[in-house]
This record gives sequence, structure tokens and C-alpha cells, in this order.
Amino acid sequence: MGNRPQFIKSAPVSAALRAGGIDEVVLHTGQHYDDELSAVFFEELGLPEPTYRLEAGSGSHAEHLARMLPGIEEVVLSTRPAWTLVFGDTNSTLAGALAAAKAGSPVAHVESGLRSFDRTMPEEVNRAVVDQLSRLLLCPSERAVDNLRTEGITEGVHLVGDVMLDASRLLTPLAAERSQKLGELGVSPGGYLLLTLHRESNVKAEPLVRVARALAGLDEAVLFPAHPRTRAALERTRTPLPDNVRLLLPLGYLDFSALVTGARLVLTDSGGLQKEAYWQKVPCVTLREETEWPETVEAGWNQLAGTDPDQITTAVACAATRDVHPALYGNGRAAEEIVRLLATIDPA
Ligand code: UD1
Ligand code: UDP
Repeated sequence: MGNRPQFIKSAPVSAALRAGGIDEVVLHTGQHYDDELSAVFFEELGLPEPTYRLEAGSGSHAEHLARMLPGIEEVVLSTRPAWTLVFGDTNSTLAGALAAAKAGSPVAHVESGLRSFDRTMPEEVNRAVVDQLSRLLLCPSERAVDNLRTEGITEGVHLVGDVMLDASRLLTPLAAERSQKLGELGVSPGGYLLLTLHRESNVKAEPLVRVARALAGLDEAVLFPAHPRTRAALERTRTPLPDNVRLLLPLGYLDFSALVTGARLVLTDSGGLQKEAYWQKVPCVTLREETEWPETVEAGWNQLAGTDPDQITTAVACAATRDVHPALYGNGRAAEEIVRLLATIDPA
């Protein structure tokens, strides 16, 4: 693993591995290296210190993979794991799966089968390749299982639910108890919108200007813990943010979770956050044209607005909580099921 959402996804799995008496060797690729995108999660989620650390740094393209592959291969060859577990859809996921498959270690993919059907997204390419390489395909939803079936992948496919729900169930109450963030920021529950934005397609001048224009038209305070990539893009493109937007550093999981709970609405292009907003019964406006989590849209809690200012404004005005809130993405015990499968399925 190597990215913020992977540290979070690994927390419940790591705990379940420990409970099952299974040894876990953690390799951190170094894709995310700033403390607020990496170290903070190890500290507050009690993750085991990585046994191996590469310093691959970030990047979106082939050269980035090339920086990660040899180091991962070396670790797989020297430790010979029964399974190599990879999470999600980032370059670290792809590098892990590819290096393991080449080194002859069976790959288990957590969050398998998701598709946005937009191959211009770096993540979509990663997902499709990782699923081809995986022996155990651990799906968070029925739709993910169907997506794999459409691609002819049926062996080793298991519907286990979403490990992010496990994390959310466990940590949201802890966040409510421990986080002082709303007080520190001087905001009240329901009195602000929460924004995150970091997708490659959105951190360019045109979409940034469009989003800023939409935000300027909102008569509400917006808290914006910005990914360093987005902060840099705002500076590079000289895109000013309107006065109602408060730019913050990225937050740890607990403080961020407390801000989600208290938000009137979440605006985001994040994958994970669309679901966390749903589970916390906070309406979401997704700043993308498509989503890997269409069930949240079908349930009426998430709207796809892209980056068009009019669409964003309309979506924010229409967003409201609903009476109906079907259970989505499992029962909060995905990690246990994953560990059961890892322990019982013969990888040979
Ligand atoms: C990556 C994943 C994305 C995931 C996101 C989670 C890929 C292709 N993308 O995107 O799927 O949603 O992580 O947050 O793997 N940077 C820093 N400090 C850091 C890390 C990055 O300043 O610790 C800056 C660098 O300028 C870097 C840029 O952010 O070039 C992008 O980082 P990168 O890891 O390539 O992509 P993310 O946008 O983080
Ligand atoms: N998150 C966080 N602090 C922040 C922003 C997000 O802890 O300042 C968490 C969020 O709760 C979710 C995860 O990071 O669990 C989502 O990661 P991100 O949006 O970076 O990646 P994606 O899900 O889009 O791959």
C-alpha cells in the first residue's frame, strides 16, 4: 500500500488478521509521503509499522510504476507470502499486483470489480489490470461481481462488502467522542459544506475555475481540506477561491470523519468519501460525470454534477436527506470475511 485511502482500508483488515493469528508483512511504497497523507493514519489507526518502505514518491504514469516494481518484487521474492493483498485502484495497487503476479505470489484484491467505464481515469486502467491478475477478487457490491462477470471473470470472486464500512462503523463513534475539530474551526453541525477535490481530471485550470465559480454562488461556508496536489494546482493556475471557502490542510481520519458527520452536504470527487457521506446520512454532490458507487446515486443521496457551475448550484440546492436509506456495501464485517477466505482458500 502507499496512499491515504489504502491506509484506512487496511486498518480493519490488519486488525482481523491479528485476531486470526495470521502474520502480516506491510510494504509501504512511499507514494504518499507527507505526514498528513500517511503518518497520521498509522498513528491514529494503530496500523503496524511497515516492515518495508520504498521511497517511490508519487506520479500518475508508467515511470511511477517503474520506480515501484523492482522494490516490491524483491520483497515478495524474499518473504514468499501465502497471499499478496492489494487495496483499491491506485498505482501502488497495480505495482503490488503486477510485481506479486510476476514473482509467482497469488494476489488478493480488496475492492475488486469496481468500474467507472471511463478509461481516461488512471484508476480505471489500474482496476481492470489488477482484477485480471488477481486470484481472489473481493467485491464490495453485487454490481462489482456483475462487472467482473461481464469481463468473463467468475473464478475466485467473492462478495464480502466494503472494508471502508468496517472502518466507518468502528471509527465514527470514536471521532464523535475525541475530535474537537468543529469547535476549533468555529463551525456548528449543519452550518457548513465540506469539500474535497483531487482527481487528475479536476486539478487543471478549467475545472478548478468552474468549481470556484460555483462555490462563489453558494450562500454557505465551505470547509476545504485540500490534497497537496490540489493546493499546488490552485497556486499554479492562479485560481482564487471565494471568501466563503476555507482552505485547510488535509486532516486525519477522526477529525475528517467528525467534519463529515457535521456537514450539511459533502462536495467531492473522492471515491471513498461518497460512501462515507452515505453511511453518515449526509447528502453528497459528486464533482464527476460518473461514479464507481452508483448505488448511492440510485438511493437518492448522491448527485453527479461534474464541474459545471449550474449543475453544481442546482445539485446543492436540491440536496436533502431522505427517509429511505438502504443498507449498502455490506454489514461492516468485510474484513473478517476476507481473513476467513484468505485462511481457508488454498492459493496453489
Ligand atoms: C492518488 C491515486 C488516486 C487516489 C489518491 C488518494 C494514482 C494514480 N492516484 O492520487 O487514485 O484517489 O492517491 O488520495 O495512484 N503529493 C504531495 N505529497 C504527498 C503525495 C503527493 O505533495 O505525500 C503531491 C505531489 O505533487 C504529487 C501529487 O500530489 O505529484 C499527486 O500525487 P499522486 O500520488 O500521484 O496522486 P494522488 O492525486 O495523490
Ligand atoms: N480523508 C481524510 N482526511 C482528509 C480527506 C479525506 O482522512 O482530509 C479520508 C476520507 O475519510 C476517506 C479517504 O480519506 O476515508 C478518501 O481518500 P481519498 O479521497 O484521498 O481517495 P479516494 O477515495 O478518492 O481514492
